[in-house]
Amino acid sequence: MKTIDDLEVSGRRVLVRADLNVPTGSNGIRDDGKIRACLPTLNALLERGAAVVVCSHLGRPAGVPDPACTLAPVAVRLSELLGRPVALAADTVGPAARAAVNGLRPGGVVMLENLRFNAGETSKDDGVRGAFADALASLADLYVGDGFGVVHRRHASVCDVAARLPHAAGYLVQAETAALERLTGDIERPYIVVLGGAKVADKLPVVGGLLGRADQILIGGGMAFTFLAAQGHGVGLSLLEGDLDVARGYLERGARCGVTLVVAPDVVVAPGRDAAAQGEVVPSAAIPADRMGLDIGPQSARLFAAKLATAKTIFWNGPMGVFEMPRFAEGTRAVAQALASSGAFTVIGGGDTAAAVRTLGFPDDAFSHVSTGGGASLEYLEGKTLPGLAALQADGTPTGTPATAAGCPA
Ligand code: 3PG
Ligand code: MG
Repeated sequence: MKTIDDLEVSGRRVLVRADLNVPTGSNGIRDDGKIRACLPTLNALLERGAAVVVCSHLGRPAGVPDPACTLAPVAVRLSELLGRPVALAADTVGPAARAAVNGLRPGGVVMLENLRFNAGETSKDDGVRGAFADALASLADLYVGDGFGVVHRRHASVCDVAARLPHAAGYLVQAETAALERLTGDIERPYIVVLGGAKVADKLPVVGGLLGRADQILIGGGMAFTFLAAQGHGVGLSLLEGDLDVARGYLERGARCGVTLVVAPDVVVAPGRDAAAQGEVVPSAAIPADRMGLDIGPQSARLFAAKLATAKTIFWNGPMGVFEMPRFAEGTRAVAQALASSGAFTVIGGGDTAAAVRTLGFPDDAFSHVSTGGGASLEYLEGKTLPGLAALQADGTPTGTPATAAGCPA
């Protein structure tokens, strides 16, 4: 894969696809880790005399402009961090974008408005996506892919633009793939994976991919309820997503292949997630019908910590509970502490998980690597070919190791 050191960027316009999809709340940006993560690439390009056009998505707007998803606050924060003005073009492509880019001088930065305000960005139709990619590519001379968090998405700005311009990978994509490479191939064992979080339907298939690789998979957060339901337990009002037959199949496969799938044995439940809700600990097999699971319980936290203390390699994706509310943050804190205290090679994957550990006061250097990609890092570890990395390969070689490496057949 070519890097930006291989590109002659001085005096050229460089389109950088970053992943600036930061968590936001009523007070604006909750965690700017993803913005910080693209600074090395942007600073290097600017110092070398490039004119930089940054693009990203934010949230999941439906292919039309949505004021709630404007990149305006992100442009402000990027400008503070770079110490240079960052103008936000009112549009992603078209006359407003063209005008903003035309006024750009070497050392200058323009941010295009949210890519997902355009249906072409995520379209499944190659022609529609290609037309949007043409418009994007016409704004620059060179393309740099540095949005590691989106390399698993076959989107116009991630894949199709790379085919239209001389391209290279940015430093973040390089650093991420180098760290995750250590979790493929010859892994130092025991290798334990901790999974939680809320995008359960997205992530459930990953469990299947990891069954042939990890020695143990510890399951908490929103994902626990899918497995509890698959085991025949009631989960009350808890988040329940994903195909229960698939989850049941994974439990059976795990048992057959000696990969222990450990589902959190107790949970903290409350009538709902509103501020007044008081938590109460119950066994996972006895969640009352009128209660919602909002964190793993203390027994689960101790069990997970004890298992993690034996690991040589740990990958963690997804908070164990609703960590934004302090009384449902203890499970996430316990797992973060177990990783921080461990001598293992520890990787945290995902913007939400990274934000969670920072919110709880853990510095990034408490872990071997903090990945900006959640879905992307999981799919990388499964051994899938990631379209955004394949597009950046100069010679077209697919990336990732085949998922059948160790093998736990279906
Ligand atoms: C993320 O936050 O995981 C990335 O920015 C990708 O976002 P997406 O899941 O909406 O494609
Ligand atoms: Mg995500």
